[in-house]
Amino acid sequence: MIIAIDGPAGAGKGTISEYLAMKFDLMYLDTGLLYRALAKRVMTEKVDPTDPIAVANIARTIRVEEVDDHALRGEEIAAIASQIAVINEARTILNDLQRTFCRSVKPPYKGAILDGRDIGTVICPEATCKLFITARPEIRNQRRLLETQMRIDASHEVVSSISQKIAERDQRDTARKIAPLTPAPDAIIIDTSDLTIDEACTKAALYVEKCLLQSGNIY
Ligand code: DC
Repeated sequence: MIIAIDGPAGAGKGTISEYLAMKFDLMYLDTGLLYRALAKRVMTEKVDPTDPIAVANIARTIRVEEVDDHALRGEEIAAIASQIAVINEARTILNDLQRTFCRSVKPPYKGAILDGRDIGTVICPEATCKLFITARPEIRNQRRLLETQMRIDASHEVVSSISQKIAERDQRDTARKIAPLTPAPDAIIIDTSDLTIDEACTKAALYVEKCLLQSGNIY
């Protein structure tokens, strides 16, 4: 079984996905980290982030294992990730990685959960269960600021400009022509603005249980 989680930055996708992965024994992939890993390589290899061929050449060498890197967190790298995410050639390559991840599920795992922007619409349109996690912009900004201030590398960031960076990123991710951030027609929308982490996770888990029952999956 596949669970698709989409939504904008800071809505709580990651926290909810980790919770659901534990609860339902699922392999978890944060697909934003693939775009961030690509952004990091584009930066370190001093490649033009608007050059589709150069970016796609690097995308071909990205491995899922590269997401396990603390240096990928942060709004600076996220901004580059969002810019290169408009490149169709790069998306196609990263899409293959994500689908291969879904096919690689083996016991003791019972399925996979992926979070991103286009999981329910493009990567796994056949997913057993689709959730679109959102929150009001001011709440999402607040959460990202808190996260950033707690991180050791916070000094590398111009903290005051983070809200603006997130807004620009949301706008770019939503407005792009290919695989824009949008809920799949059959996704449930969960607004976490006024929910605690526990409440948001419980709400998501109840919905997943409902999907599993409806699809004949037994847990
Ligand atoms: O989820 P995140 O904030 O780590 O994602 C970073 C950027 O990567 C995001 O702004 C857009 C891009 N992205 C994407 O285009 N499609 C995905 N499935 C995941 C992320």
